[in-house]
Formats: sequence, C-alpha cells, structure tokens
Amino acid sequence: MCYLNHMMSGKRLVVLSGAGMSAESGLKTFREMGGLWESHDVTEVATPEAWRRNPGLVMRFYNERRKALLEASPNPGHTRLAELERFFDVRIVTQNVDDLHERAGSTHVMHLHGELRKARSSADPSLVYDIDGWELKMGDLCARGSQLRPHIVWFGEPVPNIQDGIREAEKADVFVVIGTSMQVYPAASLIYYVPDHVPVFVIDPNEVNLHEDHRIQVIKMKAGDGIAELARRLGVDLG
Ligand code: APR
Repeated sequence: MCYLNHMMSGKRLVVLSGAGMSAESGLKTFREMGGLWESHDVTEVATPEAWRRNPGLVMRFYNERRKALLEASPNPGHTRLAELERFFDVRIVTQNVDDLHERAGSTHVMHLHGELRKARSSADPSLVYDIDGWELKMGDLCARGSQLRPHIVWFGEPVPNIQDGIREAEKADVFVVIGTSMQVYPAASLIYYVPDHVPVFVIDPNEVNLHEDHRIQVIKMKAGDGIAELARRLGVDLG
C-alpha cells in the first residue's frame, strides 16, 4: 500500500465526518443505541416547526448539548486528522456541530449542519454570534431585536454550503468517510461527487449504509485507531 506515499504527499485529502468522529470524546451519536434520537423526538427539538411551537424546549436541548461539548476534548482521531496536514492538504467537511476538529488543530473545517457554539438571528440568518459559555436564553436578541436561535441546520432547512462541500468532494485525491451512518442528505450524497479514480476509505466500527462501489476500502474500526490505520495504508508515519 506504500505506493500511495510519494504519489499522494501534498495532495488533497477530503474527509466527510459525522457524529461517530466525536463518540470517543464522550459526545452521543444520533441513531445508535443510546443515541440522541432515542431519547429525544427529532420533531420536537430539531425542526423550524418545533422552534415555532416550543422554543424553550429546543433551547434546552441545544444548551444541554453545548454544556457537554464544553466539557469534552478532541480525541486521538481528531488529533491524527490534524497531524495528517503535515503530509496532505486536508479538507474536513463535517456534519458535526461541535468544534472538536478545530480544537484539535485542523485548519480547513466546513460545517454543513451549523455550529453549536454560535447563535443566529431568527429574523436575519446572516447575523451570527459566538455564544459565551453554554447557555443561550429566551430574550437573547440580535442587533435587529429578534430572538437568537441555535446556529444549527434543522431538518427541512436548506444546507447553505452544500455546493462548497460538493466542490471539495470533486477535487479530492483521497476521500475518507468517518463516523457517519450516511443516512442524511444532502451530506451523504457527497460520495457520489468523488471522481472515479479516487480511492475512498470508510472508517466505522459498524455497518454503514453504502452503495456498492469497488473503490471503497472499509476500515472497520473506531475513528482513533481507524485513522492510524488509514495513515499506514497511505504510507504515512504519524509517529
Ligand atoms: N468511531 C467511528 N465511527 C463511530 C464510532 C467511533 N468511535 N462510534 C460510532 N460510530 C459510527 C456509527 O456506527 C454510525 O455509523 O458513527 C455513525 C453515527 O451515525 P449517526 O448517529 O447517524 O450520525 P450522523 O451520520 O453524523 O448523522 C447525520 O443527522 O441527526 C442528524 O444533523 C444530524 O449531522 C447529523 C446527521
């Protein structure tokens, strides 16, 4: 497998990551046993209708998740992706709303589904603010006087930077899917934009909902060990 080394260094390694990437940091995934959607009804906490119906309930859901995020730290998987920047032009397109990729030192991180540590205006989505601490409250207003809401892409809302994500997938020299069940679109569709000649790796300890594709190398491991294995297959020594 080391034949990739001299051919790939400096090349663009594009990562599509999901909740499993942060599982080893103690953050819950969504659809697994004990996942967030097992204990919360998605239609009560993660849709624009839910926000209109009961903003307090939605606010509490994201405040609790933000509190957990502030207590969490990047795991070896996040750190290894940041270290891969020594060898590759690493571009991370994440479905995660946590900031653990950035905290681990990754320099190119695109959030498709929003950012938990930010709030935005209910009246003008371009008005985005950093949240100080974990709590966003009813009565916290934007510069235009409208209620601030979590800066999250809810089900049924458009994914503003999906075209940027598609462009990254189209420019990949190596494409890596880490810790996502590939059930949520349009994020899961990015794999279809990867050019045919590009090697594709999928890192997940469990079965993932993937179409038949001879290019795909499945690394059936958790993110931390799986990325170390990926580096080995790419002929890179992360030390
Ligand atoms: N390392 C790698 N993968 C893991 C680990 C781990 N330690 N632990 C679990 N996984 C895998 C699971 O096997 C599963 O395939 O992570 C995946 C998590 O899948 P989901 O819970 O469906 O999360 P995700 O795919 O990120 O969800 C997509 O759905 O709920 C919405 O907006 C939310 O961004 C989210 C989107």
